Amino acid sequence: MNKTVLVSGGAGFIGSHVTVELSQKGYEVIIADNMSNCDETNYRGVCAILGRELPFIRMDFCDRKAVEELFSTHRIDAVIHFAAFKAVGESVEEPLKYYSNNLESFINVLGAARAHGSGVLFSSSATVYGEPDELPVTEKSPRQSATSPYGNTKQMCEDLLRDSVKAYKGLKGIALRYFNPIGAHPSALIGELPRGVPNNLVPFITQTAIGKRECLSIFGDDYPTPDGTCQRDYIDIVDLAKAHVAAVDRILEGRMKEDYEIFNVGTGRPVSVMELVKAFEKVNNLKLNYRIAPRRAGDVTAIWADPSLAEKELGWKAERSVEQTLAAAWAWEKHLAGKD
Ligand code: UFG
Repeated sequence: MNKTVLVSGGAGFIGSHVTVELSQKGYEVIIADNMSNCDETNYRGVCAILGRELPFIRMDFCDRKAVEELFSTHRIDAVIHFAAFKAVGESVEEPLKYYSNNLESFINVLGAARAHGSGVLFSSSATVYGEPDELPVTEKSPRQSATSPYGNTKQMCEDLLRDSVKAYKGLKGIALRYFNPIGAHPSALIGELPRGVPNNLVPFITQTAIGKRECLSIFGDDYPTPDGTCQRDYIDIVDLAKAHVAAVDRILEGRMKEDYEIFNVGTGRPVSVMELVKAFEKVNNLKLNYRIAPRRAGDVTAIWADPSLAEKELGWKAERSVEQTLAAAWAWEKHLAGKD
């Protein structure tokens, strides 16, 4: 019988791409989402890509009874936990909202996973490294104190997983630290759906290119980097999704070396904001309206991954080029605008 994976937040940007890759690998996937930050677009897109309806449960992971019931009524071999609030700025203004939602939901997932023997995969972030002293960062690089409640919830959830695995025999978990996930599925049927004005670079670029935004602000060109703009490790969303499949395989095939493991999920390739803008223009053959603006508070100068541990242990590495990814992001924006 196929193994079943529960994907909390499965209607979101990352969750929907992971659902597709898991299903295509032969896993049964249950999507659960409270739809607080998305509509049905990605869920419909997932079903269209796979050519079948997937089980969908509308629920809130902060509802402990609902989580327990879900695990009692379904055989869940592994759970991937995406359901969380993710706006850095909002988390500074409403810390309690972030702490209660992001921690409570994960505590409920851990309790149910412990009780029912499910493996746990947690979606962490490179934000835990803060402004690193040495680049690229490895999983052994020190975590820095978080600069936002959002970032702090990522660190705290990692600790919740580490401590639970240590205390509760049989519980196993992996935390994946994502660098900057961008792009969309090559089918252009699923992608990122930011509400309101996007905070992240690539949705802002594609919305500017399509005419929804007037001008992209490049936040700072006086950083100590080769061209003065910040450097990040942009990871294609489908590559990122495949890392989850590799991690679930590892948990369920009993190949973990420790009961709690951490892997960086990045390309190992730094790309500056200006390089990304230029690559977007080139690959999509258009001109983007942009200007240099002051630095954005809280941005780190540069961060990119050493992804060699994931390659060695998970047999995973990023395959898609930045150009392919930016072409997919643009195809998705056009699909949304009905211009394709
Ligand atoms: N940027 C711009 N203009 C924009 C948006 C972004 O110049 O309109 C720049 C930023 O200054 C930064 C780079 O593009 O240098 C990337 O910014 P993003 O907002 O896309 O991504 P971040 O690296 O800031 O965000 C990532 C994760 C978050 C995480 C955060 C922690 O996507 O989930 O790191 O710092 F919280």
